[in-house]
Amino acid sequence: MRAEIHHHNYCYHVLDAPEISDADYDALFDELQALEQAHPDLITPDSPTQRVGAAPLDGFAQVRHEVPMLSLEKATLVEELEDWDRRNRKLLDQEAALAYSCEPKIDGVAVSLLYESGRLVRAATRGDGTTGEDITANVRTISALPLKLRGNPPPMIEVRGEIYMPIAAFNAFNEAAAANGERTLVNPRNGASGSLRQLDPKVTAARPLNFFCYGIGQIGGEAMPSTQSEQVMHLRELGLRTNPNFRACKDIAACAEYVDWLQTRRDALDYEIDGVVIKVDDVEAQQRLGTLTRRPRWAIAFKYPAQEATTRLLDVEFQVGRTGAITPVARLEPVFVGGVTVSNATLHNMDEIRRLDLRIGDSVLIHRAGDVIPKVMQVVPGKRPRNARAVELPASCPVCGADVIQPEGEVVARCSGGISCPAQRVQALLHFGSRLALDIQGLGERIVQQLVDQELVQTVADL
Ligand code: IVH
Repeated sequence: MRAEIHHHNYCYHVLDAPEISDADYDALFDELQALEQAHPDLITPDSPTQRVGAAPLDGFAQVRHEVPMLSLEKATLVEELEDWDRRNRKLLDQEAALAYSCEPKIDGVAVSLLYESGRLVRAATRGDGTTGEDITANVRTISALPLKLRGNPPPMIEVRGEIYMPIAAFNAFNEAAAANGERTLVNPRNGASGSLRQLDPKVTAARPLNFFCYGIGQIGGEAMPSTQSEQVMHLRELGLRTNPNFRACKDIAACAEYVDWLQTRRDALDYEIDGVVIKVDDVEAQQRLGTLTRRPRWAIAFKYPAQEATTRLLDVEFQVGRTGAITPVARLEPVFVGGVTVSNATLHNMDEIRRLDLRIGDSVLIHRAGDVIPKVMQVVPGKRPRNARAVELPASCPVCGADVIQPEGEVVARCSGGISCPAQRVQALLHFGSRLALDIQGLGERIVQQLVDQELVQTVADL
């Protein structure tokens, strides 16, 4: 039964092709748990039921990395990639094109996983690259990560990869936390690192974490695969989750194409990336190129524009929607984020402002992904100016002056002016004329605004 459950884990997490339904999987799992309870002597440490260990820890032990966990040189321009490629070929004394591998640079937590005789025996953080922390008990709770490797694992293999929090799971976690009045996570990366730094593995087990591996640190009893592409293939054969967007590229031009392609896919991915990692594919060439103090010469990170930035909250204004809903909007000191300059962000409602404990004048962390409206994530702690001002819900509508009402128990405050409020009137007329309603062609925002400004139209009947 253990083998059967391992197989279904592999189909689900690695192949992304489950063979049985979730309910059938749960039934199998429950059956194994019942058998183990009846026969505790049959429990093995790699049993799928043994992910959460018994007691919380007092602290994390230190782990020395025999092979250091390096960081990467960065590039933001294609020309820098071309320079890097020229330098590589010069150092290798090679005229012909050099083959590379490209893969998403996952924005998570770097880990080293040690498997001995196919069993996960130790997981460690990167730390300063030489010494990290032993997070084995927490890492064991991540269901996408095998406790036991498949096929013919070597006697020893140290796997390198990234633990991350999927974006959908991060959003769901935060919605539930906010609804329960609990603390929310700032972003998926902090979510992943905070989850791994828990002393009680039960807390980690309740966090939605996932994992991609991207390389081999060391291997014992078997030769290191001779290219990066083969390393990744080998890891996948061993039942480890590798990134489906991995590509072998025949030259640096193909890498540049990949960089552009992945950027168009960035917002469709269920994990945050901050760029592309490009590696010389041939391991022997990697060794000849060698490593500077902390960075290998044979790899580079192409970085995309950051989707997060900090700026100052200049003011909060209130917009009136079609149904009178009053929405606070943050006016920001303009800041470059996600590839554009942003000066407004949504704040949803007053509850959100209270949750963030937002004051005018605060430094704020904002996030902008793709075409989505930028969002204020958090107030930067310790940077509140002394004259910071509280945000107050206006007593009267900023457009028509009617009373603002907020019925008991409702989150949304509304202008009580109804269609006599020009802001509501504009939105109501637009809605009335929209494609799925009366579909009045040419009745766009500008014309409606003019009709309302000049008081030519009071109600839809006037159209
Ligand atoms: S390769 C020498 N591949 O980026 C090779 N790193 O600056 C070093 N990272 O924190 C790592 N995704 O954990 C590599 N596909 C990927 C990666 C990746 C994310 C992280 C890595 C480390 C940092 C390196």
